[in-house]
Amino acid sequence: MSKLHADYYADSMQQIESPLVRNEQIAEDTFLIRVDAPEIARRVVPGQFVMIRLSQTDAPLIGRALAVYNVVNDESGDPRWIDLVYLRKGTMTTALAASPLDRSVTVWGPLGNGFSNRSCDHLIMVAGGIGQTPMLLLGREALGSQQFGLDSRSNGWSNQVTLIYGARRKGLLAGVNDFKEAGFEVELCTDDGSEGQQKLVPDVLKERLERLPAKARVRVVTCGPEIMMEKVSEICESAKIDCQVSMETPMACGIGICFSCVAQVKQDGPEEWDYKRTCVEGPIFDSHKICWS
Ligand SMILES: Cc1cc2nc3c(=O)[nH]c(=O)nc-3n(C[C@H](O)[C@H](O)[C@H](O)COP(=O)(O)OP(=O)(O)OC[C@H]3O[C@@H](n4cnc5c(N)ncnc54)[C@H](O)[C@@H]3O)c2cc1C
Ligand code: FES
Repeated sequence: MSKLHADYYADSMQQIESPLVRNEQIAEDTFLIRVDAPEIARRVVPGQFVMIRLSQTDAPLIGRALAVYNVVNDESGDPRWIDLVYLRKGTMTTALAASPLDRSVTVWGPLGNGFSNRSCDHLIMVAGGIGQTPMLLLGREALGSQQFGLDSRSNGWSNQVTLIYGARRKGLLAGVNDFKEAGFEVELCTDDGSEGQQKLVPDVLKERLERLPAKARVRVVTCGPEIMMEKVSEICESAKIDCQVSMETPMACGIGICFSCVAQVKQDGPEEWDYKRTCVEGPIFDSHKICWS
């Protein structure tokens, strides 16, 4: 399982209140918000998330977890803003999408453990649905174009970054230009063939792995629907490739108190498993540790 670092536990989280600096539609039912959160921006590492609530209302009462999509620097190069990308789905995201720019939100984070930055030759990121949101930071760190975290963890740890990204249809693909501009090789697929290959992302991954040189040190990370991550995990396990998953179990507190977010995680013994809180012991786990349902 990913090693936890004390700086990344919830006890180093910051809570801020900020007006929405941006709130704009970037794809079908998909929006990007920007909040002024320098204390979070300079602490966050790829794969971490924040909890967000609309301030001064209790509808909804409970915050929602959103992965940190981007960290934006101010004029002097210091991290200042964080961008979050969300799919308009239910109570919170519908209210957020309808919010004007000066609407105040409460954000606490960064939370969770974050992806590993173990070096490799080729990082392959596999995303489905809204699961592309943690990938921009990770790919930029891997290629060495941005550094993250209070202890400036190492960057430039992969020679090549590929994003395999699938959605139901073309309109739902969000942030594709950001990924291309960051220097990732982007392979798109859609269920209806309206953009890229008409294939499922695990099948694209399998074909890609078969084409790679036998000695390439490959790492895979994945985020998206659980069924997709399970398939990606199976492919990596049979190819003996290191794979980390970002679990998106529903959360209430985000700081380890309520146990609403647990996932079944395998322990050392063959039949042993335990509940782990995705918000503090995850959301990133080694894929072979997850007891897929
Ligand atoms: C670590 C982590 C990171 C995450 N990162 C992101 C991210 O970057 N971007 C993102 O968009 N989400 C992300 N999520 C999911 C996010 O936290 C919310 O669960 C999601 O945005 C839905 O919140 P909501 O209040 O809009 O929906 P809720 O009201 O909480 O609804 C929950 C579910 O009920 C269903 N539902 C609710 N209302 C309706 C309706 N009227 N019709 C049909 N179905 C309905 C939907 O399927 C929905 O998924 C993440 C979750 C975790 C745990
Ligand atoms: S969300 Fe409360 S313990 Fe994880």
